[in-house]
Amino acid sequence: MDRRVFFRFLEFSIPLWYDSVSMNTRKFHVKNFGCQMNKLDSALVVSALRQSGFIPTEHASEADIVLINTCSVRRHAEDRVLSHLGHLKHIKENRPELVVAVIGCMAQRLGSDLLSHEAVDLVAGPAQLPDIPRLIEEILERRTKTLAVTDKIRTAAEPGQLHALDQFEYAYDSDANHIPGQAFVRAMRGCNQFCTYCIVPYVRGPEESRSPHVLVEQAKKLADQGVRQITLLGQTINSYSYRNGDRHYGLADLLEMTARIDGIEWIRFITSHPGRFDEAILHAMADIDKICPYLHIPAQSGSDRILKAMHRGYTARQYLDLLAQARQIVPEIAIAGDFIVGFPGETEDDFEATVGLVREARYKNCFVFKYSPRPGTRADSKMADTIPEAVKKERNLGLLEVQNEISETDNQRFVEQEVKVLVEGLSKKPHLNQADEGGKPQLIGRTATDFIVVFNGPESLAGQFAKVRIEKAGALTLFGTRIE
Ligand code: SAH
Ligand code: SF4
Ligand code: F3S
Repeated sequence: MDRRVFFRFLEFSIPLWYDSVSMNTRKFHVKNFGCQMNKLDSALVVSALRQSGFIPTEHASEADIVLINTCSVRRHAEDRVLSHLGHLKHIKENRPELVVAVIGCMAQRLGSDLLSHEAVDLVAGPAQLPDIPRLIEEILERRTKTLAVTDKIRTAAEPGQLHALDQFEYAYDSDANHIPGQAFVRAMRGCNQFCTYCIVPYVRGPEESRSPHVLVEQAKKLADQGVRQITLLGQTINSYSYRNGDRHYGLADLLEMTARIDGIEWIRFITSHPGRFDEAILHAMADIDKICPYLHIPAQSGSDRILKAMHRGYTARQYLDLLAQARQIVPEIAIAGDFIVGFPGETEDDFEATVGLVREARYKNCFVFKYSPRPGTRADSKMADTIPEAVKKERNLGLLEVQNEISETDNQRFVEQEVKVLVEGLSKKPHLNQADEGGKPQLIGRTATDFIVVFNGPESLAGQFAKVRIEKAGALTLFGTRIE
């Protein structure tokens, strides 16, 4: 057997305090440190634990079990988890019965090293999610430290394990509605791209597309539960590919199939990779109203030299040509990007090329990250992390400033326009929670093109569509009044 799941039960002396965790006080709290993929995992775990009789709580302080869903993409993400574990260790000095589970990407990456942390009882990787309720039951009963991660992560999973993950996903999706009326649906697992800086292929395993028929059934079930917007998730979602006998399904096919579901009104997909981007996806977007005209398609750099060192598989010109083609086929499209600044060897000229690309791309918004060497990746083993932190920071802020100016200018076109938004709920930002004269709070919604819109309205609008007339536009947010 090539790919094995380890369940190692390290027997410890059995302290009496564990017996005090009775069946009716099994409250759990999940804290998330990762991306959308991890948020979906957290939601699945919450609903699986609920169905096993555990009770979720918003307050970590009253939980008997704390689960930390972790990310390994940058060192900062891991440092936050380690510092949180330090805090939990402190808490466990007074509450030794507390069970701490570390799950997700960092759990897969560090495995037994994490388990040796004093605070940690369970370490479980992304492929072991379906086992979590059982493992926690066992820990409560047997007081063991437990490691459940995948050995040989790059070996394709056995059909049995994939089937179990699929079943898990299908069975527990109903509670995955972290925002009313919306749901994430995983279309693909893993990644085969191996960008030289990136840890994801080493913690999420090989690329694997789920059956379009299972996905459509899952989306139908969600629609019946009131979900209006589905976001299909994959690390390189445009390379979605499923073969069933002679028939091949790409992302455009999956989008068309999902769009036929009554009740589903908006469909998004993230994240796209600029290499081998099939034009059929853009035509589906142009032809089918339900498919949101929005692409999150990271460039990572505007320098061909750096793109090559990153193993991205395209040049800056090819990337910009793709954006031009997208805008020609879908004129209203909004495009978002990601960039890494301070990649090993990035010169001022390389950075200027990135600035040039951002100016030409005219994104709706972009995310900028400082390069963080990840152990085990090719960039880390072959290239020294040469760019000083101060330079990374300066480039990070400089690039965001360029984008901010673009967004602020371009967003003025919305002023006095009417937009349709899917309402997410109350605005949580302290400076954006003022009620109007009628006592209606400030709500937050998003357009099909992913623009954030803030306006006053009843909280009951969460999960519904609303029309808003825009009055003011900033770089990140549009402000307006609801049209009843
Ligand atoms: N699969 C997606 C997203 C992967 S992670 C994609 O390919 O676009 C999200 C973002 O984190 C990436 O787009 C990249 O910009 C950033 N990132 C990944 N590894 C990083 C690293 N080692 N240091 C800094 N940023 C990183
Ligand atoms: Fe990482 Fe590249 Fe895969 Fe995205 S495409 S997850 S950046 S290896
Ligand atoms: Fe997501 Fe971080 Fe894992 S970006 S896939 S949670 S390494």
